Amino acid sequence: MQASDNIIFAGPVELEQLVHKYIGETEKNLILCDTNTASYCLPIIKSYLPEINDDQLIIIDAGDEEKNITSLHHIWSKMQFHGVDRSNILINLGGGMITDIGGFAASTYKRGIPFVNIPTSLLGMVDAAIGGKTAINLSKIKNQVGSFRHAEAVIIYPPFLDTLPDEEKRSGYAELVKTALVFNKSLFQQLMKIDSLDFIDDEVIRMAASLKQGVTQKDFLDRAERQCLNFGHSIGHALEALYFSHGKELSHGYAVASGILCEAYISTRVTKLPMKDFEDIQKHILDGFPTVAFSVDDIHDILALIRHDKKNFDGDIRMSLLSNIGHCKQAIPIPPDLIEESLMYYIKHTT
Ligand SMILES: NC(=O)c1ccc[n+]([C@@H]2O[C@H](COP(=O)([O-])OP(=O)(O)OC[C@H]3O[C@@H](n4cnc5c(N)ncnc54)[C@H](O)[C@@H]3O)[C@@H](O)[C@H]2O)c1
Repeated sequence: MQASDNIIFAGPVELEQLVHKYIGETEKNLILCDTNTASYCLPIIKSYLPEINDDQLIIIDAGDEEKNITSLHHIWSKMQFHGVDRSNILINLGGGMITDIGGFAASTYKRGIPFVNIPTSLLGMVDAAIGGKTAINLSKIKNQVGSFRHAEAVIIYPPFLDTLPDEEKRSGYAELVKTALVFNKSLFQQLMKIDSLDFIDDEVIRMAASLKQGVTQKDFLDRAERQCLNFGHSIGHALEALYFSHGKELSHGYAVASGILCEAYISTRVTKLPMKDFEDIQKHILDGFPTVAFSVDDIHDILALIRHDKKNFDGDIRMSLLSNIGHCKQAIPIPPDLIEESLMYYIKHTT
């Protein structure tokens, strides 16, 4: 297996060459899209390779609930129907939903065929398409079944973002902020100067993608420093689950942004994040993301949800926390009272 991701930043000229290299050789190289990326991104690929025919396409409905065993079965069956073998390549053209399920389908079909990720969402470009984690959800629980296997190549072509809805862009931006906070202060300082997500420059995407590549190279199997990528997610996931239990929708990115603020608050106490760093984080989160509303009465349920987090062990709630912007420590035990205090702080500063 490859030791690292082969990330290729492409302009139109490179994209044309890569499309010919990875798709053009045989009709058995299939392309997986969701309904949105089939409408908005596939035409760009086809403009470079008009020979692509409809039989080569596997299109599934958009939305994370489609990252399931039924869609997986459909992808495997299509590959089998077309006589795909290990000499062929599956092209995953989409956001994290498509690269996760496509990566898993390819990594398991005939004990593993190569796949190429072409991320089309911001979250995909800076995070999901990189690092070799593939997965599907099981019984509505996220990423329960998956594998570790690198893509043959990850082709990043930022103009795909032109059609990405604003809410999706902001959701991906939360992960970008997280990556900067845990690994690179100068990237965070660059982000603090951005006043519109329409102007995320390619250099920012390139920096974030290579930070993700770097940590996954060091800790491919997620046993140590890769866990820092979970900063903001212990509380973020609990907020998502709280909304879900009330039958309400909450964007993953907005939940993570709130989780970042609460976990930065906890970091000031436990890992001694300096107050100046905390204030910069607070300003960036409160200016850049909508408030995630919850009340004092919800705190008990949020804590119960955090207790189920898979990063916990030895009976302790564990989190990745910041010691400075750009430096993170993983698996730190956190007293529940402090989590409660951070949630109270969030409520106080957002209402
Ligand atoms: N494997 C990993 O390391 C990793 C890391 C983080 C997240 N993830 C996974 O990634 C998924 C979330 O990724 P996501 O936010 O990209 O979600 P997504 O793939 O569902 O895309 C979000 C929405 O944007 C649409 N879309 C994507 N690109 C578009 C484009 N260029 N133009 C128009 N519409 C477009 C999609 O159709 C979808 O409706 C989750 O399943 C999460 O578990 C995986």
